[in-house]
Amino acid sequence: MATIIDDVSRTFSEYLLIPRLTRKGQTAEGVDLKTPVSAVRGNHAPGFLMNVPIVSACMQSVSGSRLSIALARQGGLGFIFCSQSVASQAEMVRQVKSHKAGFVQSDTNATSDMTLDEVIRLMKESGHSTVPVTDDGTSSGKLVGIITDKDFWQYEDDLSRRVSQHMTPLTDVIFGPDGISLREANQLLHQHKKECLPIVDEQGNLTALVFKKDYEDHRRHPQELLDESKRLCVGAGINTHDYEERVPALMDAGADVLCFDASDGFTEFQAEGIAWMRSRYGDDVVIGAGNVVSAEGFDYLVERGADFIKVGIGGGSICITREQKGIGRGQASALLEVAARRDAYHEETGRYIPICSDGGLANDTQIVVALAMGADFVMMGRYFAMTEESPTPKTSINGQIYKPYWGEGTRRAQNWQRYSDAMETRKLIFEEGVDAYVPFVGPVSEVLETTLYKLRSTMVNIGSDTLSEFRERAILTKVSEQSVVEAGTGSVFKFNSNAEVESSGWGQA
Ligand code: IMP
Repeated sequence: MATIIDDVSRTFSEYLLIPRLTRKGQTAEGVDLKTPVSAVRGNHAPGFLMNVPIVSACMQSVSGSRLSIALARQGGLGFIFCSQSVASQAEMVRQVKSHKAGFVQSDTNATSDMTLDEVIRLMKESGHSTVPVTDDGTSSGKLVGIITDKDFWQYEDDLSRRVSQHMTPLTDVIFGPDGISLREANQLLHQHKKECLPIVDEQGNLTALVFKKDYEDHRRHPQELLDESKRLCVGAGINTHDYEERVPALMDAGADVLCFDASDGFTEFQAEGIAWMRSRYGDDVVIGAGNVVSAEGFDYLVERGADFIKVGIGGGSICITREQKGIGRGQASALLEVAARRDAYHEETGRYIPICSDGGLANDTQIVVALAMGADFVMMGRYFAMTEESPTPKTSINGQIYKPYWGEGTRRAQNWQRYSDAMETRKLIFEEGVDAYVPFVGPVSEVLETTLYKLRSTMVNIGSDTLSEFRERAILTKVSEQSVVEAGTGSVFKFNSNAEVESSGWGQA
């Protein structure tokens, strides 16, 4: 007969944290969110660390290179999806690795014989007010000048006049030589009171632009996740079918962390994949495996050599695995069991294997609870699908802006195999995910700033300065349905939800 687990499957919203003593001098700003991604292996102590405990899901509608760049700039890690050809995934990894923080390739360029009218259209389409002028109108042509929206008066000047008659010609442009450091570029911007510095190589070709606003942005977000060569870090999803071809390409492209992307990872296929990677790359590859929802699954993959374990089946916002296959577990129950096993395994062996809570995080509170329950970091899809940097276009529905978001187990996501040489086309008999829309929320930097501030604030309420202290000190209580009602504000009339709270007791620590 089957074994029946006594407790029911629980979700994050069934728990609340009990505050512990906050010490004088503890502040949200003083909290350290660094977290391990990998076990310590060989000489690679302390393993791979992130500056914030957040990664993006390996999904077509979530993690392209743009989102991965934005997330690494905030201290987290994007996992570029593997439901695409080996070559295009490796190219996305390469784009993140070659992204030179602060140096951007100009995506809007003019030629000197364009009319002002044409340039105004370019500025409107791109939203940029500074446009480099090159001999061939490309981002790598010979720089001949710069035109900005301050160089003409749209309603006074004759808009059929040429760019050459209004631009700042090269002789008067302050530019930096190719190879200059970001620090030197910023010093030039400061010294000459400029907003934008073109970078030009020895042949006079434009190679990049450096903006003052990016310097300010960097000052506000000093948490960038960089490798030893100061390149942004990036993760990549892999599957159990084509890793012999995919992994070498991803490693060549510079991927820092690899992770199997599967709804159920408690399989001999993943064990074989890990063994293959270890035999080829030894300790030089960081491997995530999963997903599992039990201590048994954790042990199996850890003993096969995984560096971190991903937890969660069926909790994803676009996921219908539980309905379709009858497998899964409430995310909180799964995480609590695996976290307890992680700690016991640490005691027994001295090896700490980080775990990642993947899927089903519907709001900031649940992120906080997942980290309190023992996750070293969390993986999210919907959260990032809603941002400016996710790879999908914005769509207006009934006057509201949305972005498309679909599961990796949908026909839409799986269709890529039809165009891939590497992957034998497998028949998709039923779907495990849905195709949906999510509301647009703005840039990653803004939404993460709020989430992380709330996390830090709660950590202070629990009297903790680090995530490991947070986990150790956290005491959680189960909530009844009635206490959920009590926690809401349904009994009062809300007149302005954005009003600032001025009383001293209710602000953040
Ligand atoms: P979310 O953050 O709740 O949107 O969940 C994202 C997670 O859902 C991913 O990291 C995957 O683990 C999982 N997932 C992605 N696509 C599918 C699918 O099609 N079916 C089931 N789970 C999926």
